[in-house]
Amino acid sequence: MGFSCLVLVFVVQQLFGQSSAYLLIHGEPTNYVSAVGDPGMTNPNVRVALEAWNFCNEVGFEVPNVGSPRWADCTDLYCSSDFVYLGGGLVNNGSQCRVLHKVNETDNRLGAGDKFPIMGFESYADPDLFAKEKELYLGSLCEVQESPNPWQFWMIMVKNGNFDKNTTLCPENGQKVSKIVTDRNFPCFGEGCMNQPVVYHKYSMLGGNQKVYLTGEFNGTYDLDANLGENVGNNSFFSVSWKKNTSTGSWIFSHRLTTSTKYPWLMLYLRADATEGFNGGYHYNGSGMLKKLPESPNFMVRLTLDIKLGGGPNSQFYLLDIGSCWKNNGEPCDGDVLTDVTRYSEMIINPETTSWCRPDNLVSCPPYHISPTGEIIYRNETDRFPYSAYHLYCSPGNAKYLEKPYDICDPYSNPQSQELVQILPHPEWAVHGYPEKKGDGWIGDRRTWELDVGALSSRLYFYQDPGTKPARRIWSSINIGTEIYVSRTRETAEWSVSDFDVLLPEFTHKADSSSSY
Ligand SMILES: *[C@@H]1O[C@H](CO)[C@@H](O)[C@H](O)[C@H]1NC(C)=O
Ligand SMILES: *[C@@H]1O[C@H](CO)[C@@H](O)[C@H](O)[C@H]1NC(C)=O
Ligand SMILES: *[C@@H]1O[C@H](CO)[C@@H](O)[C@H](O)[C@H]1NC(C)=O
Ligand SMILES: *[C@@H]1O[C@H](CO)[C@@H](O)[C@H](O)[C@H]1NC(C)=O
Ligand SMILES: *[C@@H]1O[C@H](CO)[C@@H](O)[C@H](O)[C@H]1NC(C)=O
Ligand SMILES: *[C@@H]1O[C@H](CO)[C@@H](O)[C@H](O)[C@H]1NC(C)=O
Ligand SMILES: *[C@@H]1O[C@H](CO)[C@@H](O)[C@H](O)[C@H]1NC(C)=O
Ligand SMILES: *[C@@H]1O[C@H](CO)[C@@H](O)[C@H](O)[C@H]1NC(C)=O
Repeated sequence: MGFSCLVLVFVVQQLFGQSSAYLLIHGEPTNYVSAVGDPGMTNPNVRVALEAWNFCNEVGFEVPNVGSPRWADCTDLYCSSDFVYLGGGLVNNGSQCRVLHKVNETDNRLGAGDKFPIMGFESYADPDLFAKEKELYLGSLCEVQESPNPWQFWMIMVKNGNFDKNTTLCPENGQKVSKIVTDRNFPCFGEGCMNQPVVYHKYSMLGGNQKVYLTGEFNGTYDLDANLGENVGNNSFFSVSWKKNTSTGSWIFSHRLTTSTKYPWLMLYLRADATEGFNGGYHYNGSGMLKKLPESPNFMVRLTLDIKLGGGPNSQFYLLDIGSCWKNNGEPCDGDVLTDVTRYSEMIINPETTSWCRPDNLVSCPPYHISPTGEIIYRNETDRFPYSAYHLYCSPGNAKYLEKPYDICDPYSNPQSQELVQILPHPEWAVHGYPEKKGDGWIGDRRTWELDVGALSSRLYFYQDPGTKPARRIWSSINIGTEIYVSRTRETAEWSVSDFDVLLPEFTHKADSSSSY
């Protein structure tokens, strides 16, 4: 399997500077290049989109008069040449600056059945298909024509975890079913519980004082009867606003997510998705920020995370959720939802999250753990297996050769089968720059993380059919945010993200120039 290469992986020497980083691989210092269109979030122009997903990452039904749940704020700042650019999108005294919105209200309101204003985009009456087309349309308006890799936007994702088992809106492991028969319980207050949100948008405009920058916001609620205004009341709520850090020039994305009685399970992530092809959990071609896709074991993620409110005991705050797709035989996904499998790995940093993987509950552990030196430790080796490094592991529902005992991941919450490796802060992962113990990076512990995501993700167990060639672990989404999992009481999480970057060693491209990213 894929870990034999681990022993020769690398001696990492991190010498992060402001804009460049160096890595020692086989004694050769290598430059890092950014894989994102907006490295370190220092672009002066705004490139943000918002997508809303139902339980299985589709639309289902649009909210009347709200349009298809894809929106974008793509705004350029033009200042007269005698004004001083301070870097990072900051200019001195912006009275001479102009703001150009590349996406207007008409674009943002487009809904199923509407004709797109320009050629090349097909309208659909089906809300699922219309949304994927709208994402590509908005992407075309936002696209930054950088050669050879154009890019579109940071993606904000909101997802409603309600699932109405009386409907057939979601397939089972990718298979269309005429009736949902399952013992699993899901929140749903009654008919219509899988609705999309109402969304409000403050288009980017000039903000700041001596140092001027663009600032804007998206917010919304799932409670369709709410009269939101300034007062959220007891309704569900999410918001993401952006402004510049005037000392670094990075965007600060400030997030808030609140659950309500009717919507006890909500997700809000900031995503760096692939600029073309599929992205994590999404089986349609989309738009995004990752102009080159990172591949294990050689890439890093850098970001600053500042958590103000945790979101309660069930808030699965992910200091990175990485998503990809490959088949159980190791082949890349091709859109066949019966054999494609979404693969997720998530580190949950809420200190209240416990380890379901335990010596007396091996069903929630991966079959084995791979140590930093490449050693395989089976989950039944109770004196050696690091149980507390895992929250839970679950297997893809379409896997044919699973090792007992096993648990199948939720077969309904993705358009196809999925596999989840959820890990917790632990010294086993800290060797890659990840939190070492519970509480690291949590409320009040703002940090800039330099995570060797490539090395960590190459050490994770993912299922493959016996005897098949190990899959290339190419990640199409890198996300940060929280999933407030079914909360009894109303819970709120609040956090901000800045300085986000994904770094690839330059040698990967030279060695790999024939591969199609
Ligand atoms: C910006 O410059 C104009 C003209 O020089 C001046 O009137 C204004 O007060 C300045 N604004 C700020 C915020 O410094
Ligand atoms: C919005 O933009 C589209 C295409 O970008 C254009 O066709 C349309 O006229 C614009 N609408 C308004 C109200 O400006
Ligand atoms: C599903 O149908 C059952 C039986 O008709 C009904 O009792 C239940 O309330 C329905 N659930 C929802 C979420 O509508
Ligand atoms: C949501 O955004 C709208 C539009 O910018 C704004 O008017 C409203 O105050 C915001 N609501 C809350 C509760 O922040
Ligand atoms: C919110 O719910 C609490 C507890 O149920 C209630 O006391 C309060 O009046 C509600 N507030 C609003 C604005 O509805
Ligand atoms: C801006 O960045 C600096 C350096 O990381 C940090 O100390 C400061 O708190 C940030 N400002 C805000 C408003 O986040
Ligand atoms: C999806 O994207 C891939 C990779 O860019 C491309 O080869 C394929 O043609 C696209 N498919 C559709 C249906 O647009
Ligand atoms: C532990 O698990 C491995 C792999 O599944 C198996 O080969 C071995 O027999 C097990 N050992 C014990 C003591 O159960």
